[in-house]
Amino acid sequence: MSNTTSHISSTGRRAYIITGPTSGIGRATALELAKHGMLVLVGRDRQKLNEVKKIIEQQGARAVSVVCDLSDISSVRRAAEEIARLNLPIAGLLNNAGIMQTRPTKSDKGLDLTFATNHLGPFVLTEALVPHLRDGTNVAFVVSAVEDPNRKPAVAAGFRGGRYISAEASARGEWKPNGAKQPGFDAYATSKQAILASAMVFARETPRLHFNAIEPGFNPTTGLGGSDTGTLVRLLQRFVIPLLVPLLMPFIRILSTPKRSAKIIAKIMTDASGQTGFYYDERGNPMQGSALVRDPKFQERVVTETRALLAAMPTGT
Ligand SMILES: NC(=O)c1ccc[n+]([C@@H]2O[C@H](COP(=O)([O-])OP(=O)(O)OC[C@H]3O[C@@H](n4cnc5c(N)ncnc54)[C@H](OP(=O)(O)O)[C@@H]3O)[C@@H](O)[C@H]2O)c1
Repeated sequence: MSNTTSHISSTGRRAYIITGPTSGIGRATALELAKHGMLVLVGRDRQKLNEVKKIIEQQGARAVSVVCDLSDISSVRRAAEEIARLNLPIAGLLNNAGIMQTRPTKSDKGLDLTFATNHLGPFVLTEALVPHLRDGTNVAFVVSAVEDPNRKPAVAAGFRGGRYISAEASARGEWKPNGAKQPGFDAYATSKQAILASAMVFARETPRLHFNAIEPGFNPTTGLGGSDTGTLVRLLQRFVIPLLVPLLMPFIRILSTPKRSAKIIAKIMTDASGQTGFYYDERGNPMQGSALVRDPKFQERVVTETRALLAAMPTGT
């Protein structure tokens, strides 16, 4: 038996769903997870998805593309149904996709685009897929430590932590006052705080599955925040920063590369120890979120309000 054939047969009984596999951390993680099983690639651009699928197939693994715009709840529901119909032996769901805008905008359906993409979309996808996941499946969320108002590097970068008022207010793009000067930072920090809080509730509610969250470290070479940054920043990101990061990594703990983050995330996604309700740092060690996100009452409030908001949304939102 060739190496490739034995690789496929040893991983053939596992499938991993990953959102945002077309860029940055998600792309690197999809390629890493392909060593462990089949991939369900979930993203908004079919052509980009198929490019990643092709690379995975060249590695001797299998992949299927599912088109889904996470900022569009009806698209997320359709994608979840499509994934369920595939009837695959799912071993993991990685909610990785995310955006950070310098200036917050609204989705076509009138929702704050960041809150919809980073919180509502993964929340709906996860809840829709839970009934189809076998006991012991790993579900993880790629979040961000900028949700913590006391996180020094985040504060130095201009973040003021999550500014949650309510799920409804967040969907309208409203945040607690005295937030960040940079428009967009409050939306990002709040959306990440809301999905981190939700992950902790999911872990308590459904102990047969394993829900964890991951802070992947500062990865300055990815496309995050790239869609609405200037040409100079994009050029620096593409040609200069990738050369600097490996040199600086030994001195800056939180600095990382998609490849390194991918190895840590893949380890968490394939972990068979049954850990649930954990929040891991850029090295895969347990870390603490903000005081607010650790508060079970806050966590429950976010989930209750998110479910109520989603239930009240007109069909087609
Ligand atoms: N980079 C960092 O320093 C850092 C730090 C902490 C946390 N994170 C988190 O890590 C995750 C990955 O980010 P990254 O840095 O790798 O950024 P990235 O390179 O911009 O990748 C983001 C991915 O999300 C997808 N995506 C964006 N909007 C979407 C939508 N509406 N529907 C479906 N997919 C969508 C993108 O798809 P397209 O290719 O179609 O655009 C892309 O595949 C994010 O959740 C981010 O918040 C990153």
